[in-house]
Amino acid sequence: MSLDTSHDHSHVNAPDHPVPDPGLHEEERYTDADERAGARAYRQVVGILAAIPVLAIAFVVAYFAIPIDATLHIFGATMKANHLLLGLTLGLGVLAIGVALIHWSRTIMGDEEVVEYRHSAASPADSREEAAEKWAIGVEQSGIGRRKLLGTGLAGGVGIMLVPAVVLLADMGPWPTAEERKKTIEKTIWAPGVPIVNDVNQVPLRASDIAVGQLINAQPATLFELHGAEFQTEKAKSSLIVVRMELNSIRIPTSRQDWHVDGILAYSKICTHVGCPISLWEQQTHHLLCPCHQSTFDLGNSGVVVFGPAARSLPQLPITTDAQGYLIARSDFTVPVGPSYFERNSENDFKEGDD
Ligand code: FES
Repeated sequence: MSLDTSHDHSHVNAPDHPVPDPGLHEEERYTDADERAGARAYRQVVGILAAIPVLAIAFVVAYFAIPIDATLHIFGATMKANHLLLGLTLGLGVLAIGVALIHWSRTIMGDEEVVEYRHSAASPADSREEAAEKWAIGVEQSGIGRRKLLGTGLAGGVGIMLVPAVVLLADMGPWPTAEERKKTIEKTIWAPGVPIVNDVNQVPLRASDIAVGQLINAQPATLFELHGAEFQTEKAKSSLIVVRMELNSIRIPTSRQDWHVDGILAYSKICTHVGCPISLWEQQTHHLLCPCHQSTFDLGNSGVVVFGPAARSLPQLPITTDAQGYLIARSDFTVPVGPSYFERNSENDFKEGDD
């Protein structure tokens, strides 16, 4: 490692260093020019450093000496004496460390600029030549040049090992033909008449119990008859959010007039970007925000995307009530829920301006 501590910066702008030197300008500091000023700065730094142990001791004393419920009244505000003094002593101590270090570096430490050029990352030419020679010797000794079948056999033997790797892909499930997709990822267990229940306590949701502005995470009641992997798979697809908004503050398109119950709407909880579960609800704007990449959906406008990387509206579940006023599904979702995939047909997704 070579260090150039020269004050002459002209070499930095030499032709092989096209970037102008952005370094410090040479200026004599007052603490270098005036010996007494230098001594004064030195005393100031030491003085500030000396205050730190005092503050640390004051912190410990305050911690043990001030009763936890003692209060102080300052400018009309009442605060805990203990909290105030602990905060003050610790905060001032940390501040003193910072101030002392900055003052020290600006007035006392040497301010000479040090330049260290990066060396080339390549190995020296003779090392590279040596490596190439050794490689050639290795190839020669392997016999691959003279016995061609060795190379062919090696390539064939290694290549054929790709076959088991491809066969293992079968573990990912059946080939997703259109028919298979209709039975799996394009279908959920929501169906006509399936009760909508709270996903925590499984209590059926009654329309009259849901207040304007409320959001409830929900599931189909039939989910809880399933077990194991089937339960998990169906839960991932059928998770729902139910929200209630003032009817006159939202837009219900003509094609969805019978999909809601007095401003109660149900949407898939699965983000259409890459599938995070969403329930960050902005009551006032009717926006639902995905915490993963900030896609934002307008639940007051059929779930259209108003911000972020999601490309498709949040699927809405058509709902109604049963004879007792409990929320039930009218059908399954009308479009596949969750993130996009190559074969997904987006024709039926709701788009801004649709009615
Ligand atoms: S998964 Fe929701 S924004 Fe990416």
